[in-house]
Amino acid sequence: MIPETFIQDLLNRIDIVNVIDKSVPLKKVGANYAACCPFHNEKSPSFTVSATKQFYHCFGCGAHGTAVGFLMEYHGLSFVEGIQELAKMAGMIVPQEERSTNSESYQAAKLTVVGLQESLQQATEYYKAELKQSQRAIDYLKGRGLSGKIAAKFQIGYAPAGWQNLQAIFRQYDNEVLTTAGLVITNEKGKRYDRFRDRIMFPIHDQKGQVIGFGGRVINPEDTPKYYNSPETPLFQKGHELYGLFLARRAIRDGGRALVVEGYMDVVALAQYDIHYAVAALGTATTPFHIAKLMRQTDEIVFCFDGDNAGRTAAWRAAMNALPALIDGLKLTFMFLPQGHDPDSYVREFGKENLEAEMKMATPLSAYIIDHLCEDNALQSQEDKVKFLNDAEPILHQMQAPRLSIMLRKRVSELAGVTGQELQDVMRLSSPNKPPTRASQKQLRTPQSIKKRFALSLLMKPSLANADDLTWLQGNAEEDYLVRNVLEIALQQPQSNPAVLLRGLENKIDERLLREVQRDLHMLDESLDIALEFNGARTQLRDMMQSGSSAILLNRANEKPISALTEHEREQLVNAVKKLKR
Ligand code: GTP
Ligand code: MN
Repeated sequence: MIPETFIQDLLNRIDIVNVIDKSVPLKKVGANYAACCPFHNEKSPSFTVSATKQFYHCFGCGAHGTAVGFLMEYHGLSFVEGIQELAKMAGMIVPQEERSTNSESYQAAKLTVVGLQESLQQATEYYKAELKQSQRAIDYLKGRGLSGKIAAKFQIGYAPAGWQNLQAIFRQYDNEVLTTAGLVITNEKGKRYDRFRDRIMFPIHDQKGQVIGFGGRVINPEDTPKYYNSPETPLFQKGHELYGLFLARRAIRDGGRALVVEGYMDVVALAQYDIHYAVAALGTATTPFHIAKLMRQTDEIVFCFDGDNAGRTAAWRAAMNALPALIDGLKLTFMFLPQGHDPDSYVREFGKENLEAEMKMATPLSAYIIDHLCEDNALQSQEDKVKFLNDAEPILHQMQAPRLSIMLRKRVSELAGVTGQELQDVMRLSSPNKPPTRASQKQLRTPQSIKKRFALSLLMKPSLANADDLTWLQGNAEEDYLVRNVLEIALQQPQSNPAVLLRGLENKIDERLLREVQRDLHMLDESLDIALEFNGARTQLRDMMQSGSSAILLNRANEKPISALTEHEREQLVNAVKKLKR
């Protein structure tokens, strides 16, 4: 474990501009630095690096982060490796914090999310060691054609048979952390036992390479279920994670495409055959989160499905889930393997070259959609055509990418025998060329509250913080916590840069709000006079808080339109405002 104070010190000392410039040459543009984004394909630069904020941000694909985040994303390093790399650049030596594993307070601290991660990491090591001990498990994996090297790369392990094996590594087998982590189950009688028994273990990694869950496969074909996954935990949400993504990132970026397959074994077998850019959804349909995640790495995604009915159903769901995430320039294609094959068996039988050749001929999303809509529809009678239009309508509504939209609309109107204008009118589609209307833009961008402005300007210039403000900053809304936490951090670290301060907020405030603040910070105009902004927000906020109960009202008025207040509330508000004006 690296002490947090060292990390802060290091991140305050290095300059993100130098760090990124080593891998992606930067050009100075105004107050910032810019380049073509290394995380997606583009011709004009929308990747910016801010020396004041110590963040990078791409206006094209939304990639963003700190210096260490960049090393992780770009070079595929883990957090610790990233810190070590930065320390090398800064000429600093990374100290190690002694772990007082035997102290009670340490055990109590394990009840946090941090403890969750550690328990999963320890379990991974244990399962890996057990695999080495089990000839039966080794034989199974060998029988499936896996080399020791690939098994090690994916950190594959084995959970032995037996009910409480994990007692061997967790002194406190009763600790709730193990239940939350999904490693231990408590039955109705209160008896505790290991979730995974006699299974091949596939660790699931997050983007930082940390283990956040497992998939466990039976060895005995008679045992059920064939696969058993970790439950959803604070670290692990199935709909968000892709198996293999951490290991595949480099290959995806280098090769310019990602292959999405259905199974754990598919990902591993493809790697065995030197295809390292495959990932799998975890037994769920591909979600818009998955697609958005992949889009940050590449602009070509190939979906590969088994040739059976289940594969076809999964493909259609993936296509429909992709619609909201689609942007022009993204290439999504669908390939179907011959009946009875999955990517694992296919690559074994036909090899890498044939699979890659098939990938090149995969069906583009729009063609696939049309094929699917026409599958059981002869498009002969009026009724056929009406049904076709009805089926196409929700799809066209969900598709936001202008150019893709036009192409699809054109094809739909041709097939239905109506003009483009008729289609647009009957479906009430907006014109694809027009930028979104003012109203819809407004919905996307809510006005910044005073509290947020206060917090943002302090993050930019923490030396402005004033300890007296802690006395009047009250309230229990999420934003009140934000304001107080930012103030406290700013007081502690008046010389830190925004990236370091924001790091201090992690785990302290609501994650969604944190992301919002992060985004607002990226967007913040650097030519603003921060001191002026801060003093303005501070004065307004103090007046609001100090006018007692009316503050709550003002706050509400700040968050919802006046028309949403009750008659009584509105009256009170008018009085409160009058009082403030005096
Ligand atoms: P092998 O049979 O070992 O080749 O597995 P596979 O990876 O090819 O899996 P398969 O194509 O049968 O299923 C695809 C994916 O669906 C798996 O990787 C799992 O994520 C999931 N899955 C399959 N069977 C089960 C099951 O019984 N339970 C759960 N929860 N998920 C399953
Ligand atoms: Mn398989």
